[in-house]
Amino acid sequence: MSLKSLTYTSLARLDLTAEDLEAIHRTARELNALDGISGMLLFNGTHFLQIIEGAPHAIDELVERLRRDPRHSGLEIRDEREVERRSFPEWSMELVHVSASYFEAKDTVADKLPPDLLQPVHERVLRMTETISGTVSF
Ligand SMILES: Cc1cc2nc3c(=O)[nH]c(=O)nc-3n(C[C@H](O)[C@H](O)[C@H](O)COP(=O)(O)O)c2cc1C
Repeated sequence: MSLKSLTYTSLARLDLTAEDLEAIHRTARELNALDGISGMLLFNGTHFLQIIEGAPHAIDELVERLRRDPRHSGLEIRDEREVERRSFPEWSMELVHVSASYFEAKDTVADKLPPDLLQPVHERVLRMTETISGTVSF
């Protein structure tokens, strides 16, 4: 069965609350378990970085739903590829809440990511975390 991994960043709605974030996380975990999707969702207070992995049609359908979701905007696909195996097999969707400062965020990220994560994926997460941090504007 072919597997697809997709990484995107987006800007959270300005007035997003802790309850909104909890609702997003709950929906993601529940639906992903049904759809055979796994991944991680990183939030730094202003931006999201999400990696989703699963069957190509399930990923494409989720991206369609994400594009319509008013809780964030400016969804930009940063990486999309076919993969041999999942990077986050244990996570139907893990929420990683990090500081707005990249220097603090990178320690949290290093701490939270699965220890056996492939190095290129680990580097992509750090690079994208830096992109959405205040240190780099886009
Ligand atoms: C940042 C963010 C991440 C999300 N991640 C997921 C996800 O991993 N899986 C999922 O099914 N829905 C996720 N959602 C919710 C979807 O956008 C959508 O609301 C949900 O899939 C239900 O689809 P529907 O609103 O078309 O019924 C996320 C929403 C946001 C704002």
